[in-house]
Amino acid sequence: MRSKIKSYSYGRQNIGKDDIKSVIEVLKSDWLTQGPKIQEFENALANKFGAKYCSAVSSGTAALHLTALALGWKKGDIVITSPVTFLASANCAVYAGATPDFADIDESGYTIDTGKLEDKLKKYKQRNKNVKAVVAVDYAGNPSNWEELKYLSRKYGFSLVDDFCHAAGAEYRKDYRYAVKYADAVCMSFHPVKHVTTGEGGAVLTNSRKTDALVKVLRTHGIIKNNTVFKIRNSKYKSDPWYYEMQMPGYNYRITDFQCALGISQLKKLDKFIEERRKIASLYDEFFKNDERFILPFVNPDRKHAYHLYPLQIKFDKLKISKKEFFDKLASKGVFCQVHYIPVHLQPYYAKNFGFRKGDFPVAEKFYEREVSIPVYPSLNKKDISHISDIIKKSL
Ligand SMILES: Cc1ncc(COP(=O)(O)O)c(C=O)c1O
Repeated sequence: MRSKIKSYSYGRQNIGKDDIKSVIEVLKSDWLTQGPKIQEFENALANKFGAKYCSAVSSGTAALHLTALALGWKKGDIVITSPVTFLASANCAVYAGATPDFADIDESGYTIDTGKLEDKLKKYKQRNKNVKAVVAVDYAGNPSNWEELKYLSRKYGFSLVDDFCHAAGAEYRKDYRYAVKYADAVCMSFHPVKHVTTGEGGAVLTNSRKTDALVKVLRTHGIIKNNTVFKIRNSKYKSDPWYYEMQMPGYNYRITDFQCALGISQLKKLDKFIEERRKIASLYDEFFKNDERFILPFVNPDRKHAYHLYPLQIKFDKLKISKKEFFDKLASKGVFCQVHYIPVHLQPYYAKNFGFRKGDFPVAEKFYEREVSIPVYPSLNKKDISHISDIIKKSL
């Protein structure tokens, strides 16, 4: 009999019976969408991460897009992010008509380098150009240098967005509620590889009533009703129960009630999931340390990593095997890694429309050559980890 080999991807969801039960209950209820579970999920997120307001939306990308609009980004504004991120962190600037730019990553933590960011801010200031916002990405689950980012945002007068899609459960200076304390808006994703999933989904957390109100109007076509924070203008129709007004163009970026039911159930397990991810990461650390072919993910002593990813760097430039050959070998043994990320400035769209070139952000480019995201998700056990680590070592 042929034995089926167990296969592993870099990330996957963890769905329990409790999650399934919560979703089924909503499927049997009166509300599939626009019902009570939306606010229940928003309240749970706001409580967990210490925000005054929360809007749940259809994806992390929608969260970033609506944040860009709610913060008033427009043509002529410059928005700076890290080149080592998913496309959406930069695309949100493009959607709003603003101009995206990047500051290279830090050599050790792989988040935006605040020294290089300040060099860039100075250059823009000399040219009288307006840097409207910085989207700092807590890459892989490792918090950015928020203290320094806050200092720069005050000094140069820009708003701060935390692309927190990787970092639910991370800690900065002993605080897992750090994101809303430092950033004007915090964007989350609930894609299945993330810590907590709703299938597709996202959220914007903020302490600003106005930002939240705008996100809520924009996520549902720009519709304003009597019960929204923004008021209807045409008082003649105010008492008509069916009346609504559109004062700005919006989108349908709503999330459904059954997705929110899944989110509520998953969020209760976040702390446990994070603990398991940290255990897996420490097993990998043990396996790969003291071997000069590898560079382990660095964690600053004042931070705690959430390990959405375990970005292992492999020095292919010093080895006989190429990254492609390595990936092929691993795949033949059932281990499906990924690379996070192709630096955004190297994407043809960004090169063509904004003039970026290879060599613009050398630390990010070097990191891209070496980075491999190896499997990390709660259902992996000790045996799986030593099996995967063994395959990685032997394949080199
Ligand atoms: C850093 C980062 N930002 C934004 C997003 C977009 O989230 P979503 O896939 O939910 O649209 C992702 C998704 O992978 C991400 O990793």
